[in-house]
Amino acid sequence: MTPKHIGFIMDGNGRWAEAHGMPRVEGYKAGLEALLRVASECAKCGVEVISVYAFSTENNARPQEEIAAIFDVVTKFNKAYDGDFKVIYMGDVDSLPDEVAQSVRLVEYNTADNEGMTLNICLNYGARDDIIHAAKLAYDHGDYTLDTFESNLSSGTLPPLDAIVRTGGEKRLSNFMLYEAAYSELFFLDKLWCDMTEQDVDAILSEFECRNRKFGK
Ligand code: IPE
Ligand code: IPE
Ligand code: MG
Repeated sequence: MTPKHIGFIMDGNGRWAEAHGMPRVEGYKAGLEALLRVASECAKCGVEVISVYAFSTENNARPQEEIAAIFDVVTKFNKAYDGDFKVIYMGDVDSLPDEVAQSVRLVEYNTADNEGMTLNICLNYGARDDIIHAAKLAYDHGDYTLDTFESNLSSGTLPPLDAIVRTGGEKRLSNFMLYEAAYSELFFLDKLWCDMTEQDVDAILSEFECRNRKFGK
């Protein structure tokens, strides 16, 4: 079966740029190209949603110049996007600089009626914050059922997260969709994100089909 929802931890952009003798910021531009390749192939193969980790709450500790470069790539993408994907965002976007936050609202508005795959961009996102927020809603409403709790998460309206792919060689989740990961199939690739190709996506989808998902049964 094709996964309905895949999460991508797009790691290794800085190292890719350094390996090519370029400043780290060039890695984020190449990272966007890789994202468009991966997203198009996922859409072609029938995936309904991809959630891509673009900037974590912890990434706010990076040098200001690097943060600005990442937000610049995101803002330009949002303003220029005219494809088929339905682009949505997850994370604390309102705390970001005005131009970034406005570009997010713009692309969400412009693509709201698109019928292509949903591209969920996780920006200034951290799973622990998201879980705490969901817990506060549960407390406010006095409703602690599993279904309601899950609908309180930012991913509440999205299909279950079937798989998580992390590039860049590290084998950790780095605060990405921790709750949703409960029964996700995990894929760790040594490849740097900027080097991802359509064939890599096809290989992941083929391996997914061979995995025996048991859900404890
Ligand atoms: C991941 O790439 C994307 C962001 C954190 C924005 P990195 O910037 O972490 O790249 P590496 O892991 O240092 O190579
Ligand atoms: C995870 O990568 C965050 C994103 C891909 C946006 P990091 O590079 O921030 O993760 P760590 O620091 O290696 O855990
Ligand atoms: Mg990294």
